[in-house]
Amino acid sequence: MSRPKLIAGNWKMYKNVAETADFLAKVEGFQGAELLLFAQSALLSLFANSKLAFGPQNIYWEEKGAFTGELSPKLAKELGASYALAGHSERRQFFGETHHSAAKRALAAHAFGMTAVFCVGERLEERDAGQTMNVIRAQCAPLFEMSPQAPAGFCFAYEPVWAIGTGRTATSAQAEEVQVALRAEIAKHWGETAAQNTRILYGGSVKPDNAKELMSCPNVDGVLVGGASLEAESFLAIARAAKG
Ligand code: PGA
Repeated sequence: MSRPKLIAGNWKMYKNVAETADFLAKVEGFQGAELLLFAQSALLSLFANSKLAFGPQNIYWEEKGAFTGELSPKLAKELGASYALAGHSERRQFFGETHHSAAKRALAAHAFGMTAVFCVGERLEERDAGQTMNVIRAQCAPLFEMSPQAPAGFCFAYEPVWAIGTGRTATSAQAEEVQVALRAEIAKHWGETAAQNTRILYGGSVKPDNAKELMSCPNVDGVLVGGASLEAESFLAIARAAKG
């Protein structure tokens, strides 16, 4: 089993050019945990000279064509991206992302030499109705159908929608419970070995003061951080928490 902790930041639509340069200068020398940043497409080229892993928040599945407004996975790779985010709940909520299209984007990352971080998670009313794992199974179904084998390095992120940007984090017990069940679901489709090697991040109001407890769970293999990834200081504090 090899699941080194991954500390991923999702900058959403926040940073500009100067802020990106400033952030990169501050985190450049950090060692001790694997860092990754998901930035707006227009910022990706600014990462070219940094040692940080980075990627877009969304990619299309075709290499090129008449798809106005989309980002080619080939271009993302050419700009140096090594990861791509897929299926974030904001894409699902505001931009019509479906389980099927999210899976296609995630698999395109692998087809073009990148690694996907595939987001799943339930809404509050779904949790309250005891539907959490049914929702997550449905979100993953097209992915397992299109890819009967595990793409090397593929990552999941469990992000309960009710915890994103709300300040209301899942407890470590809630995160661990879902992540154990998700790993079992991965094992069912991709086999036990692949499941044991697949990293599952937790995301949703991760902050410096809760990161350590979340990452002490055996099935929380890192975090996907929104708000607290915008300041280098808090992002690095979370990364330090990965060391235990
Ligand atoms: P948050 O966002 O950390 O601000 O809750 C997480 C995410 O959207 O990935």
